[in-house]
Amino acid sequence: MKGMLSPSLMCADVLNLQSELTKLDQLGVDYIHLDFMDNHFVPNITLSADLVKAVKGVLTHMKRDIHIMALKPEQYFDRMDIGSGDIVSVHYEACHNLHDVIAEIRRRGASPFVAISPDTKPDVLTEYLDEIDGVLVMTVYPGFAGRPIVEGSFEKISAVRRLLDNHRSGMLLEVDGHVSWDLCAEMRARGGDMFVAGSSSLYQKGLDLEEAVRRMSALIA
Ligand code: DX5
Ligand code: ZN
Repeated sequence: MKGMLSPSLMCADVLNLQSELTKLDQLGVDYIHLDFMDNHFVPNITLSADLVKAVKGVLTHMKRDIHIMALKPEQYFDRMDIGSGDIVSVHYEACHNLHDVIAEIRRRGASPFVAISPDTKPDVLTEYLDEIDGVLVMTVYPGFAGRPIVEGSFEKISAVRRLLDNHRSGMLLEVDGHVSWDLCAEMRARGGDMFVAGSSSLYQKGLDLEEAVRRMSALIA
């Protein structure tokens, strides 16, 4: 399976989001990464649930890759209009009823992923592997763009890759955080399938977006 790009909308020009989305859509990018934060699970607020919903109406090719960094994430599913074609990542650390939350994502026709923060060990995922389509591995501490990669992230990507491949083929591993020009090839080599491209790559100042997408796509192919 080829590596897939998921540009992080919170890193784009927030005063021109619709034109950013249209440009990426026309470039044939696979997913748009939509970070939602509640200022409790992480000390930040970024894209709103209403904006996550509004994005759905302007996409023609890209699919939504929704990353919910919030307690009780299921409370936002209606407002985000979660449905078929969406990937929805909820944090292991934020849910007391993760089996139910996963089932609710599935009931809405979307694809459930479990996200794990840097300090969470991969083996906590074992009991959920039958119910999910993938795992989002946070390689930075969640909450802000521009954070440094956490020590041990490459080993963690390899460990999650082994866990998924030993369970069933075709499970996806998404890497989120400091996916930079110089590290993304190693992240791919370690077993990443989807890559959240934010301030460490696509949205670095002064880059031409089309050229950056082409370059990044080649690095993770
Ligand atoms: C951070 C978000 C990431 C972020 C990645 O909590 O989950 O999606 O936008 O951006 P960079 O590339 O700056 O780490
Ligand atoms: Zn994210």
